Amino acid sequence: MKILFYCFSGTGNTRRVCENLAAALQEEGQETALFPIGTGDLPPMPGKDDLIVIGYPVHAFNAPAPVLRFLKTLPQREKTPCFLVRTSGEPLRFNHASGILPKRILRRRGYEVKGEFHYVMPYNIIFRHSEGMAARMDRTMKCRIGDDARSIASGKGELYHNGPVRRLVSFTLRIEHPAMKGIGRHFKTSADCIGCGACEKSCPLGNIRMENGRPVFGKNCAGCMSCSFRCPKDALRLGILNGWRVNGNYSFDAVPASDEEVCRYCRKSYLKYFHRYES
Ligand SMILES: Cc1cc2nc3c(=O)[nH]c(=O)nc-3n(C[C@H](O)[C@H](O)[C@H](O)COP(=O)(O)O)c2cc1C
Ligand code: SF4
Ligand code: SF4
Repeated sequence: MKILFYCFSGTGNTRRVCENLAAALQEEGQETALFPIGTGDLPPMPGKDDLIVIGYPVHAFNAPAPVLRFLKTLPQREKTPCFLVRTSGEPLRFNHASGILPKRILRRRGYEVKGEFHYVMPYNIIFRHSEGMAARMDRTMKCRIGDDARSIASGKGELYHNGPVRRLVSFTLRIEHPAMKGIGRHFKTSADCIGCGACEKSCPLGNIRMENGRPVFGKNCAGCMSCSFRCPKDALRLGILNGWRVNGNYSFDAVPASDEEVCRYCRKSYLKYFHRYES
């Protein structure tokens, strides 16, 4: 049995978690492979005896559209075990609703969803977490990774139930999928743009092309924020999302925030999450 990770990640958080899980599984003697979900050729499909892990960031209490599209390309299978690994900026339970559609698609294709893992990682939209918060999230992720990897290897995990309110909110916010295509087309650059092309290279969907030294945006944006996050000059202007842009990689190297330094927004939920998993 091979454990195949299929991962969509805009700004690297989900990829970081999946890479850590894959490394922990390898230490347990498992064979793993990690494939990005995005543009280009479809990654190799799972064999009959493989186990699959789908990684994605929560976008507006949903899985991003490219992830849903990818799941629909998976071959029909009988009882192939499958896990979801998601990351989100907040520890709110509403984020579990992002598993509703992936689970439905996977089950229709014959996969057996065995468990869901939800990691809190720093925000890449709305506001920037402090470096200390990012480091504490990263440390917490590493504390739990061994248990989660063993859970995947044994084919057993926890599944989250979503009641009618979460279902309704998630369904309503799915408007984000078509909306981002329009919003993303109107991303612009400020005078600070140096034409370096980092945005073009960073787009997981190949939605950016450089023309006359400036990025031009196509109609396949999934709102992953990678282009704006990775621009060395913070030169992208994101239309109605502009006030929510977050720029610059998190280093994860800072001293992890103490309980007193945990941000005031959703403070109780962050503390609960950290205390649950920190060893
Ligand atoms: C368009 C968009 C919507 C988001 N919506 C949510 C959300 O509903 N809940 C949440 O907790 N975080 C949300 N986030 C934050 C990301 O889920 C979080 O930063 C994630 O770790 C990013 O993963 P990535 O680096 O792999 O792309 C959103 C981010 C983006 C770009
Ligand atoms: S990454 Fe920023 S500076 Fe570089 S081309 Fe894109 S918008 Fe311009
Ligand atoms: S254009 Fe920017 S926000 Fe849209 S998918 Fe590409 S990198 Fe992500």
